[in-house]
Amino acid sequence: MNKTLKLAITNDHASVDLKNTLLSHLKEKGVSVADIGSNGEKADYPEYAFSAANAVIAGEYDLAVLLCGTGAGMCIAANKVRGIRAVVCSEPYTARLCREHNNAQIICIGSRVVGIEMAKMIVDCFLEAKFEGGRHESRVNLIVDYENAPQ
Ligand code: RB5
Repeated sequence: MNKTLKLAITNDHASVDLKNTLLSHLKEKGVSVADIGSNGEKADYPEYAFSAANAVIAGEYDLAVLLCGTGAGMCIAANKVRGIRAVVCSEPYTARLCREHNNAQIICIGSRVVGIEMAKMIVDCFLEAKFEGGRHESRVNLIVDYENAPQ
């Protein structure tokens, strides 16, 4: 586990318990993690997703974990921020490969979909993986070029 990595975690009202469980898990492992999510009620997931995604693009964090009921809303919103590659993960294989192949900076987990132990494993795999570059870099660059081209 890369302990120098700057990680953020955020969440809406559906995911406060999962956020707190993951925070404890990560702190036990010595990972430095910033809680930038909600602890209250009626937290609109797009606002939390935009805020976390913009902070990643600004370099405040290397990676972020976004939690909502399904992971879908956070993921849709985060991917609207230019330069962000966010992926919904329900199992660890995708969490590893979305770093290694897609250079994703954000994973989104559904607190109403994924169990706690699975969520811990997903986050661990995401943090342990590294972008492989090479042929994957040129594919990711196709996405970057499309995103930056006039539509
Ligand atoms: C909140 O009820 C729910 O809509 C939200 O957590 C999320 O699942 C949206 O994608």
